[in-house]
Amino acid sequence: MNHERTCKIKIVENGPYIVTGSVPLYEKNIVSKGKITELEDGRELHQAEKYALCRCGKSENAPFCDGAHIKVGFNGVEKASREKFEDRAVRIEGPNLDLLDDHRCAYARLCHKKDGKAWRLTKKSDNPEFREEAIIAASECPAGRIVAYDKTGKAIETEYEPSIEILQDPEQQANASLSVKGNIPIESAEGFIYEIRNRVTLCRCGKSKIKPFCDASHIDADRLKAAGFDV
Ligand code: FES
Repeated sequence: MNHERTCKIKIVENGPYIVTGSVPLYEKNIVSKGKITELEDGRELHQAEKYALCRCGKSENAPFCDGAHIKVGFNGVEKASREKFEDRAVRIEGPNLDLLDDHRCAYARLCHKKDGKAWRLTKKSDNPEFREEAIIAASECPAGRIVAYDKTGKAIETEYEPSIEILQDPEQQANASLSVKGNIPIESAEGFIYEIRNRVTLCRCGKSKIKPFCDASHIDADRLKAAGFDV
């Protein structure tokens, strides 16, 4: 982590995320192409040193907060586990690669690659091509649900620069999560600093059961079931 950075996300009780430190803000669309899912650039968004992102899902100026959380009486209580990722996750072992999985899924589907999903690729990691694909699949998971580890126990992943991506999911007709990259500290309403991570997704529909993190509640439950969603 770069300790000189001053960027931060502060959660307001029953209100928005206050982002400080000129964190670049982008919009990305989740797009399926055959078996693969990718992100494509969306609208250009206003950049600022400090801005407030909607957490309740009711803003008419999304992704920014317009005060609607007060009108709708948003209950933003944070219920996510405060244990560290490695203590929450389960290990999937492959012949030449392991995967840790904490089941905190934002349903971004970037773990879907040409030869399968990250779990299957890990199981077949004696093949160098599949191993490489598994590492990319894990690294691209915006939620940080999965992380690839080599057999010495070292995490292998792309270190991202601080940024926030507003994920849109046109196929699922949903505004998806906030993808927070690059070790930006996230402080709860009561002042707790969550584990600082390279990748996490935050809820912006107001419905997650593990606020402030995303649990894919922005997608219709029947659609998830039909897609064989596994969390
Ligand atoms: S959190 Fe303020 S409008 Fe949603």
